[in-house]
Amino acid sequence: MTDIRIYVEETPGQRREIIGPTDMGLSLMELLKASDYPIQATCGGMALCATCHVEVLAGPSLPEPGDDELDMLETLPVQHEGSRLSCQIRLTPNTDGLVVRIAG
Ligand code: FES
Repeated sequence: MTDIRIYVEETPGQRREIIGPTDMGLSLMELLKASDYPIQATCGGMALCATCHVEVLAGPSLPEPGDDELDMLETLPVQHEGSRLSCQIRLTPNTDGLVVRIAG
């Protein structure tokens, strides 16, 4: 089992490290929810609600967002350069060290 580290910027300059497994097919949204962040994820991870919006601040480069994700991101009132839907980001060894901020 391989665990990875994700850093959540809670206030500017202050990051909390959370650890997630890569062998359970979890998304970043699921890890954030399990870590008690207030993410509603009303669509259950289908890229349909955008309540799991995060801003990627630093870390490894991620696979490009798919069309569903891009369409949903476009509906957000506020978008950031690193805006992503955390339900569309899988925890894999390649996401180790990702730094995110919960948007909205
Ligand atoms: S959980 Fe609904 S878009 Fe991610």
